[in-house]
Amino acid sequence: MPALVLLGAQWGDEGKGKATDLLGGSVDYVVRYQGGNNAGHTVVVGDQKYALHLLPSGILSPGCTPVIGNGVVVDPSVLLSELSGLNERGVDTSKLLISGNAHIITPYNVTVDKVTERFLGKRKIGTTGRGIGPTYADKINRVGIRVQDLYDESILTQKVEAALDVKNQILTKLYNRRAISVAQVVEELLGYADKLAPYVADTVLVLNQALEDDKVVLFEGGQGTLLDIDHGTYPFVTSSNPTAGGACTGAGVGPTKISRVIGILKAYTTRVGAGPFPTELFDADGEALRRIGGERGVTTGRDRRCGWFDAVIARYATRVNGLTDFFLTKLDVLTGWEQIPVCVAYEIDGKRVEELPYSQSDFHHAKPIYETLPGWSEDITKAKTFADLPKNAQAYVKALEDMSGAPISAIGVGPGRDETIEINSFI
Ligand code: GDP
Ligand code: IMO
Ligand code: MG
Repeated sequence: MPALVLLGAQWGDEGKGKATDLLGGSVDYVVRYQGGNNAGHTVVVGDQKYALHLLPSGILSPGCTPVIGNGVVVDPSVLLSELSGLNERGVDTSKLLISGNAHIITPYNVTVDKVTERFLGKRKIGTTGRGIGPTYADKINRVGIRVQDLYDESILTQKVEAALDVKNQILTKLYNRRAISVAQVVEELLGYADKLAPYVADTVLVLNQALEDDKVVLFEGGQGTLLDIDHGTYPFVTSSNPTAGGACTGAGVGPTKISRVIGILKAYTTRVGAGPFPTELFDADGEALRRIGGERGVTTGRDRRCGWFDAVIARYATRVNGLTDFFLTKLDVLTGWEQIPVCVAYEIDGKRVEELPYSQSDFHHAKPIYETLPGWSEDITKAKTFADLPKNAQAYVKALEDMSGAPISAIGVGPGRDETIEINSFI
C-alpha cells in the first residue's frame, strides 16, 4: 500500500488534520497537493493543540517527511511564521520539502482576493481572503510566480512586472486603489529566498523514488470534495482540486501508484462561506451542532454553517474520488439527540432525486428528504471498539455506511489521537 490519499468528503473541516496525524506515525511522507493557507487543520496531541494551515499534518510525527507539492500555493510569510511557531513549541521542522514548482501567493494576490470579494458585494464567495483564487488564476494565466523564481532576481522582476502590468490597471482604474510597486514586491519576495532555500527540492523526484523504495506516502487534501473547482458547488468553491485526481497532478505521482483513497466524513455537515447547502439548519439544532461541535473556522474564525448528515453528498464523494473507505468523524457530537435526521435523497421540483444533480439551479433548490434514526444519550468518548458504542450509535454508523457507498474503517469520538475507534485496521 505505498501511496494513499486522504481527503475531505464534504465542504472541508471534516477532521482531516486529526486523521492525517493518526496515520503520520506509520507513513514515511505526508504531502499537501493543493490549496494553501486557506486550510485550517487541527491536531490535538495530548494536552497540546496545533492549528496547521500550510504545513502537512504529518509534521508532528517525528519519523515522517512533510512535503509541500507543486500543486500548493505558498504564502512565504505564513509558511515561515508557521515554522517558527512550531519550532518554539519544540517541533522539529527541518525535514520539510517544498516543491520549486509550487506557486507563490504574492501580496498583490491577497489584495486582489479582498477587493474582488468586496466588489462582488452580496454575490461574494466568502473566501478566506488569503489570495488563493487570484494566485491560481495567475498560474493558469501563466503569469504566476513560482518558488524557484526567488533564486533568479532578473526573472523574478520580469515576472512580477508582467503580473502587475494588468493588475495595476485593474486596481487603479476599476477598484480605485493605489498601484502596487514592482520593486517593493520583488524586494519582499527576495527577502524570503534564503530562509526557504534549505527546504526547496525536486519533490516529484523525491516522492517517486520513495515509492520505488516501497516507502509509504500519504497525500493530505485541503478543503473538501464539494469545494473542488471541477466537482464542487461551483462557483462557491475553492480554486483547486481537493478531489483524489488532484493528488496526482499536485504532487507529480501517477494514478497507478495510489491504492487507497480515504474520505473523511463528518457525522453531520458543515460549510463555511457562501453557497448551497441543502441540509443547513437555521434552528436550535443547528445552533447546538455548532456549539457542541465547536464549529468555528480555524483560519478565519467564522462560525460554520451546520446541518444534518447528507448521504447524497457522501455517495457523490465516493464516486468522484473512487473512495476505498471512510473515516467517520465527530460521532460524539451527536450524543444527546433523541432522533437524528439523515438526508437520503432530495426533492427537486416535486421529484425524488437520489444522486447529486449536475445542474447548479437544481441543486440550489434541492430540498432534503430525511429518514430519522433513533439517537443515544450515553457518553461515547471513551469507546475503544465498535462494540463499546450504544446500539443506536452502531445502527447510525451502519446506516451511514450503507447509504454512502464505501466501508467506514474508523470512527472519531473526540478530537484526541486516541479518541478513535478502529474498525477495519485503519492504520
Ligand atoms: P480539517 O480542516 O478537516 O482538518 O478539520 P478542522 O480541524 O478544521 O475541524 C475539525 C475540528 O473537529 C477540529 O477542532 C478537531 O480537533 C475536531 N475533531 C476532529 N475529529 C473529532 C472527533 O471525532 N470528535 C470531536 N468532538 N472533535 C473532532
Ligand atoms: P480545510 O482544509 C472549509 C472555503 C471558503 C470559501 C471557499 C473559497 O480546513 O477543510 P478560498 O479562500 O479557498 O478561495 O475560499 O472555500 N474554504 C474552506 N472551507 N475548510 C477549508 O479548508 C476551506 N478552505 C476554503 O470558506 O467558501
Ligand atoms: Mg479546517
